[in-house]
Amino acid sequence: MELPVYFDEETEWGKAMLLYSSALKEFNTKLEILSNEFKLAFKYNPIEHMSSRIKSPESIARKIRHKDKELTVENVIKYVNDVAGIRIICSFSSDIYRIADMIKKQSDVQVLKVKDYIIKPKPNGYMSYHMIVTVPIFLSNNVIPTKVEIQIRTIAMDFWASLEHKIYYKFEGSAPSRIRTELKQCADIVNFLDQKMMSINEEVQKYNKDDSWQHKENQYETFDAGIAEAYGHIFNDNDEIILE
Ligand code: GTP
Ligand code: MG
Repeated sequence: MELPVYFDEETEWGKAMLLYSSALKEFNTKLEILSNEFKLAFKYNPIEHMSSRIKSPESIARKIRHKDKELTVENVIKYVNDVAGIRIICSFSSDIYRIADMIKKQSDVQVLKVKDYIIKPKPNGYMSYHMIVTVPIFLSNNVIPTKVEIQIRTIAMDFWASLEHKIYYKFEGSAPSRIRTELKQCADIVNFLDQKMMSINEEVQKYNKDDSWQHKENQYETFDAGIAEAYGHIFNDNDEIILE
């Protein structure tokens, strides 16, 4: 007799949580590698800091109820995109797209959805770049693509979002209109500040051309190509190892 894959709901739930926490580990490692590479190559790191979390069972249940679905593991996997969540904070708006592109280019990452609230902020003023991606998790018998929500935003956007979040909960979603108007004004100031900081940074880069992002990127690509070529002597075109 063959054993069923799942013994009961609890095992099923445990397995889903194992996948989500593994997906966060995979992603944190990916981002740590990029971050370390940047420190090594450019002495500048577009990732200011990052954090990750698994959504609490209460919030998962609330979201499923809100979507009028039955609380089953299958529905959670299908309808809740942010059980595993990562937030990446950058200094400049241009870093956001740089990081998003680096993530999109990774061949094992599949992008399911992008929401660009920077190009098109929410009516309340919220700005952030969101991606729902999957990353493959290698289990003993299966490879399971597992969803992660990635939010990328600047320090200033994050400052705004955290205050807005507190206000939203304090007034249970219906803050007085004067407060909403002032928050929207603050969002406009945040946008202005981000633009200003970015253009000052670009100007500073021009003062020392050798220090510029582009200059270092070109230099680094040569170095990268060198490493790739070295590996070219080990693998043939079919990725098979060449024995000496
Ligand atoms: P959920 O809100 O997750 O059900 O899905 P959605 O389709 O609305 O996704 P969206 O990308 O709009 O939002 C995902 C997450 O971004 C939310 O769970 C929040 O963490 C954050 N977020 C979205 N809108 C706001 C906002 O107006 N203010 C703040 N502070 N955070 C927001
Ligand atoms: Mg939402």
